[in-house]
Amino acid sequence: MENNKRPESLARITTAEAARAFIDEQVAEVRRTVGDKKVLLALSGGVDSSVVAALLIQAIGKQLVCVHVNHGLLRKGEPEQVVRVFRDEMDANLIYVDAADRFLDKLAGVCDPETKRKIIGAEFIEVFKEEAQKLDGVEFLAQGTIYPDILESEKGVKAHHNVGGLPTELGFALVEPLKFLYKDEVRVVGDALGLPKSMVYRQPFPGPGLGVRCLGAITRDRLEALREADAILREEFDKNGLAGKVWQYFVAVPDMKSTGVKDGKRYEGWPAILRAVNTTDAMTATIEEIPYPLLHLLADRITKEVPGINRVLYDLTPKPVGTIEFE
Ligand code: XMP
Repeated sequence: MENNKRPESLARITTAEAARAFIDEQVAEVRRTVGDKKVLLALSGGVDSSVVAALLIQAIGKQLVCVHVNHGLLRKGEPEQVVRVFRDEMDANLIYVDAADRFLDKLAGVCDPETKRKIIGAEFIEVFKEEAQKLDGVEFLAQGTIYPDILESEKGVKAHHNVGGLPTELGFALVEPLKFLYKDEVRVVGDALGLPKSMVYRQPFPGPGLGVRCLGAITRDRLEALREADAILREEFDKNGLAGKVWQYFVAVPDMKSTGVKDGKRYEGWPAILRAVNTTDAMTATIEEIPYPLLHLLADRITKEVPGINRVLYDLTPKPVGTIEFE
């Protein structure tokens, strides 16, 4: 049984100096473990996988093969940005896989959140298997697992796709250099690794992506509405100075319609639910008080610009009792 308890000798990482010591330790450890083999990394472009990528690039350079899977559940513009930053700017060994149809076909009609997560996780493994089979010498799978993932999995709050239960027939050993760190520590480490601020302080994004925000059974039209509404929220947070201030903000779209009226006609549509929370470690969270004029602007833009959305709601529930995500 793998040890999943944070070592008592690991003090909280709050300074660049502590981060550098952690990096040196992990670089040596990764080199020892990996030798001259290749490591596959699921590079989503979120904070955790980006920091793992930077750490492993430092440790083993081109022996790291980053695989960016577009599962069709990413935010608007995200796949393009990952390719630009990692392949073009960081010269990483990056494979881009467009697997959107595969994932969405498998998810069609599936309502249960944990089943959705499991399908997404299983399909991820399939995609990696296929990519790994095209390469020689891959023996390891790196993952951006962090400590809250482990704690919440152990408590049974949810089954993250990236913790435990990886089928042994996969034949990969895991490399999880961040698994004992809290989110704020991961950012300090990312800073020390020289990653751009925009990446280190980017809001977290769950592995199953928009899949756990397109509530219930995912349909392509509702997913598209969610992606567009989310892009408007992000654009307005950028413009209004909230992007660097609020820890995590997003839109969720439930599988329900209500009556509305547009151009003098009945207009059935989904509600876009806005969520904006602040936290340091994602274990508890408080609500950001979005100014009313901005809320009105968001309601106006989203209902006018996004086909299928006829209401905008604002979630005021802290964690606990609401988790940050809806599923
Ligand atoms: P919750 O919803 O548990 O979220 O309050 C806490 C933090 O974890 C993120 N999250 C996930 N990350 N896979 C991930 O990699 C997941 O399945 C997942 N579910 C939630 C969430 O976005 C928040 O930052």
